[in-house]
Amino acid sequence: MSFLIMAKINNFSLTLPKMKTKPYAADSKFLFDGIQSCKAFATVLYRAALSRDAEALLRTRRESVLSHSGEKYSRLILEAWAPKTDATSILQESEALKNPNRISLVAEIQGNIVGFCTIGIAEGLLKQCYVLPPYRGMGIARELVIRVEDIAREKGLASLRLSSSLIALDFYQKQGYRELHSYNYDLGNDLQMPCIMMEKIL
Ligand SMILES: CC(C)(COP(=O)(O)OP(=O)(O)OC[C@H]1O[C@@H](n2cnc3c(N)ncnc32)[C@H](O)[C@@H]1OP(=O)(O)O)[C@@H](O)C(=O)NCCC(=O)NCCS
Repeated sequence: MSFLIMAKINNFSLTLPKMKTKPYAADSKFLFDGIQSCKAFATVLYRAALSRDAEALLRTRRESVLSHSGEKYSRLILEAWAPKTDATSILQESEALKNPNRISLVAEIQGNIVGFCTIGIAEGLLKQCYVLPPYRGMGIARELVIRVEDIAREKGLASLRLSSSLIALDFYQKQGYRELHSYNYDLGNDLQMPCIMMEKIL
């Protein structure tokens, strides 16, 4: 059975799929190994991001990017790609989260944000999708993508495009996105980040 709730976010009304009782795999219960090797079940809560989540989103994104080895990108590129988490950046992110055109969903475990995904409605873009290293491979990013695609459809979008890193290419292909073309994203300071433009018909 699926329900809908109306979430009011920064004066923007958005219909979101309610935390489903049977959303994915083992009903959103995931088995993971804790640092002390103890096994625990964690319930993953998916909800709309609020402006007060700004710092957590920046930290999640930074940690996600910097966790990668220098295999696909140099450390210089990873450092330039990772966002800053200073007060100015947090304020800017907090303002961006108030933009009704930009919709972000977060995945939360025990009150902590462990991943998030953002779409831009006007541009028809899936803008970002990041999951913290200890929580990868649990289907969290897939669930976030499914949910933002549902929202995109509700908003009348027929397709979503995204700019994938080389790291996430296979992940997005598994979610049904196809490659359009490769290009270099300009990170400034003469740093070019090879990326792939992708698209999915919703
Ligand atoms: C890419 C990322 C979002 C995936 O998050 P995740 O929660 O581990 O992904 P999921 O567990 O939902 O994986 C879903 C499927 O994709 C696969 N997958 C996930 N990450 C993958 C990767 N980097 N390469 C290849 N396959 C991947 C999983 O094995 C799984 O496959 P299955 O359906 O056959 O079981 C995460 O690794 C991340 O944050 N990476 C760093 C930041 C990044 O590059 N983000 C994208 C910006 S463009």
